[in-house]
Amino acid sequence: MVQYNIRGGNSLSGTIDISGAKNAAVAILPAALLAAGVCRIENIPKVSDVTLILEIMRELGAEVRLVKKNTLLIDSSNVKRDSQAPYELVRRMRASYYVMGAFLSRFGCAQVSMPGGCDFGVRPIDQHIKGFEALGAKVTVQAGLIHAEVPNGRLTGTQIFLDFASVGATINIMLAATLADGVTVIENAAREPHIVDLANFLNSMGADVKGAGTDIIKIRGVKCLNGSVYAIIPDQIEAGTYMTAVASAGGRVKINNVIPKHLECITAKLTEMGVEIEELDDALIVSRSHPLRRTNVKALPYPGFPTDMQPQIAACLCSAHGTSMVTEGVWDNRFRYIDELKRMGAKIQVDGRLAVIEGVETGLTGAPVQACDLRAGAALVVAALGASGQTKIGGIHHIERGYEDIIEKLSNVGAKICRKEISEADAIPATIS
Ligand code: EPZ
Repeated sequence: MVQYNIRGGNSLSGTIDISGAKNAAVAILPAALLAAGVCRIENIPKVSDVTLILEIMRELGAEVRLVKKNTLLIDSSNVKRDSQAPYELVRRMRASYYVMGAFLSRFGCAQVSMPGGCDFGVRPIDQHIKGFEALGAKVTVQAGLIHAEVPNGRLTGTQIFLDFASVGATINIMLAATLADGVTVIENAAREPHIVDLANFLNSMGADVKGAGTDIIKIRGVKCLNGSVYAIIPDQIEAGTYMTAVASAGGRVKINNVIPKHLECITAKLTEMGVEIEELDDALIVSRSHPLRRTNVKALPYPGFPTDMQPQIAACLCSAHGTSMVTEGVWDNRFRYIDELKRMGAKIQVDGRLAVIEGVETGLTGAPVQACDLRAGAALVVAALGASGQTKIGGIHHIERGYEDIIEKLSNVGAKICRKEISEADAIPATIS
């Protein structure tokens, strides 16, 4: 077993380079299943969720070749209509369901196991199914398998109004509609940066997708897609996480390879909290030399404050002056990490989707804690960097699903962090709820 040991209280100084966006990569890679030619995809983050989606694609018959650390060639010409990814792989990640949209579009049929992913309470896929059905597919869910098939082999464009601006449903419907007959209009579509990135990738292969980044996306189906060369955008959430790391630990760090526009909502909140942020063309300089101030945060779909940054900013607010309110507006149950922050001395009351955080002005103290999901783990790292003493974080496989080279990146700016092999007997026990 492996854990992170972090000795907090060191201010950070230097430069961090941000990797390609994980949530864009896990949509763009399956989108390459639609192409008749070879795709060269650059700036792919080396994280375990990407490794998993590539394993799934190989199982489906795609040829995947690594040409550089973050660049892949993908040839999907040998993918067969009846290929199926093993349950063991699919159940481990949410984004595996993007294979569904890509297969339905290319072959008119798809069969995928119900997907897994982080546990934030109920994670339905009704909006995906509603979209596939509106496009003409017959969808059945039986014995943990989702089966979708179009009677005449080709989907037909239509208008789809999503009940909620679901990121996953928007992506899956975009994938499905790309090779459909006619025009598909997705209304109340999600607007996250990775939706725009996927649209740009699809268009680079010859698709006709307009309006991504707004709440109405129009997809005019085309006959076929070709290979293309494409570079994935920088990771908004990874950048935001390192911004909160500086807020927590103090210091001055240049965060390179970012799109500042994507970070505006995070920049605004951290500025309210007393963090100084200087915006350059493709970098931010983040510094914090005074104690943090309280604020309120409400996690919402883009362009609101990202739910995937809610735990990390809450970790900072634990040692701010005053009482803050953090509201989760996307997921039912995204406060499971709070019990772990309490082990470090945080004072937090949770009521449904609201967390009231009373800042502990003397700061948090290191403790053994357990990551229960990806961003929960990131929040524990952020908290530990600002805490006094040593924090040992277990469950780090969650963190490594989404953060490339986190140990190296933080060590390079002066954090005292290491990854340590431990025996099962020494492992940190999970909180029993
Ligand atoms: C994506 O998940 C991200 N994952 C999540 O990031 C992120 O938290 C989430 O979007 C919101 O921004 C990936 O991109 C791989 P949704 P997704 O469909 O697509 C409800 C991370 O930490 N809903 O926008 O699964 C759902 O229950 C991960 O990197 C339905 O009701 O999110 C939730 O309340 C974790 N029916 C809300 O919509 C549906 O059919 C948002 O879900 C689909 C969703």
